[in-house]
Amino acid sequence: MSIYLTFLLNITLSVAVSGERLSVSGNHFLFKGEKVFLSGGNLPWINYGYDYGNNQWAEVKARVEKQMQMLHRAGGNSLRLWIHIQGESTPQFNEEGYVIATDTQGTFIADFKDMLDLAQSYDIFVIPTLWNAAVDQDYHNRLNGLIIDPGKLTSYIRVVLTPLVEAVIGHPALAAWEIMNEPEGLLNLQFNEDPCFDTFMLKVSGAGWAGWKYSYQQLLRFISWQTDAIKSVDPQALVTVGVWNPKSNTNSFGMVDHYSDTCLYKAGQKALGKLDFHDFHSYSFEGEFDTVAAFVHNSSDYRTSKPVVVGEFWSQQGGHRTTKQLFEYLYRHGYSGAWSWDLVDNGADQRAGISHIQNYTGNGKIHIDL
Ligand SMILES: *[C@@H]1O[C@H](CO)[C@@H](O)[C@H](O)[C@H]1NC(C)=O
Ligand SMILES: *[C@@H]1O[C@H](CO)[C@@H](O)[C@H](O)[C@H]1NC(C)=O
Repeated sequence: MSIYLTFLLNITLSVAVSGERLSVSGNHFLFKGEKVFLSGGNLPWINYGYDYGNNQWAEVKARVEKQMQMLHRAGGNSLRLWIHIQGESTPQFNEEGYVIATDTQGTFIADFKDMLDLAQSYDIFVIPTLWNAAVDQDYHNRLNGLIIDPGKLTSYIRVVLTPLVEAVIGHPALAAWEIMNEPEGLLNLQFNEDPCFDTFMLKVSGAGWAGWKYSYQQLLRFISWQTDAIKSVDPQALVTVGVWNPKSNTNSFGMVDHYSDTCLYKAGQKALGKLDFHDFHSYSFEGEFDTVAAFVHNSSDYRTSKPVVVGEFWSQQGGHRTTKQLFEYLYRHGYSGAWSWDLVDNGADQRAGISHIQNYTGNGKIHIDL
C-alpha cells in the first residue's frame, strides 16, 4: 500500500515538475502556461572545444557567468552554446575511435550540470549544441567515426549521452538539446532516387562548403539515434538541429525537408528520433538575403507545424539591417526565437538588439523566472 502511494506521489510530482519546463505547443513554445519567445544569443564558446570536461570548466566558468549576467541584464532569456564540437577534448575516444569515457578526468557531467545551475541562477535557458559540421578540423577522425560507424555512435550514446541526459533530466535551465550545428557543411552532393537523401537539388545552394564527406543517410542516422537516445531517457526533452539555411529543412519553395519525421525515421529507424522545432540560420550574401531566408518571410511561409527559431544571424551579413531591426523582424513575423551571433566577440551589439525587444508582447513573453 505505502509503496503504491509513493509510486502515485512520484507520478504526481513528475507531472508537476514537467509543467515548469519549456515545452512545445503547436508552433510555439510554452513555459509555465504562457507563450514564450526565446531571445538571446550564441555564446558560443570560450575555448573552442575545450570548455567542459577535464577540469576545463573551472577555467572558463567566470567568463561564462559574466556573459550570462550581461545577457540577463539586457533582457535575454536564452543561450546557445557548443559542447563536443568535433571531439577536440570530449568525449574520450580509444585508438579505434570508440568512446570509452566522458573525458579523461571525469568532470564532464559535473561541469555540464554546473553550467546549467549557473544559467538557472540568471533565468537563462540553455540550448547545448553537441557537434559541429560547419568546418572540417576532425584530424583524428573522431566525429567521423560516430557519423559513419553505428557501433562507434552506439558507444557514444551508451557511455556519454545517456548518462548525461539522466544526470540533468528535468533541469529547468535545459531548454532543448541541439544535436549538430550545420550538418550541410560536410554534405556530399549526389543524386539519390529517394528525395529524403537526394542532395542533387542542393548543388548550387552552398551546401558542402567544408567538404563533401557524408550522405544524408549517415547524417540523419547520426541525428535520429541521438535524438531517440535522449527521448528514451527523458520523453519530454526537446531536440533540434541547426541548419545553415532553411533550404534543407522546409517543404515550401519547391524544397525538401530532409529533417522531416519521415526522413529521420527512414535513415535511423528509431521511433523517438524526431525533432521538435526548427533552428534556421540566416545570413545575407553580398548584402542580399536569398529568397528562402527567414528575414524575407513569415514563419508561416515554411508551412511547418513546429516552432521556428532563427538560431544564427548578425548585422554583418544582415541585408543592411541593424541588429535591433533583425531581432524586431523575427519577433514580428511569427518566429519563436532569435539567437544572434555572437555574444563573446560582438556582445554589445547583440545585447542592444536583445534589449530592444525585451518588453515586446503579442508573440510570447521574454522575461522568464526559472
Ligand atoms: C507576413 O504576413 C503578413 C500578414 O499575413 C503580411 O501582411 C506580410 O506581407 C507578410 N510578410 C512577409 C515578409 O511575407
Ligand atoms: C523594459 O521594461 C523594463 C522594466 O519595466 C524597463 O526598465 C526597461 O527600460 C524597458 N526596456 C525597453 C527597451 O523598453
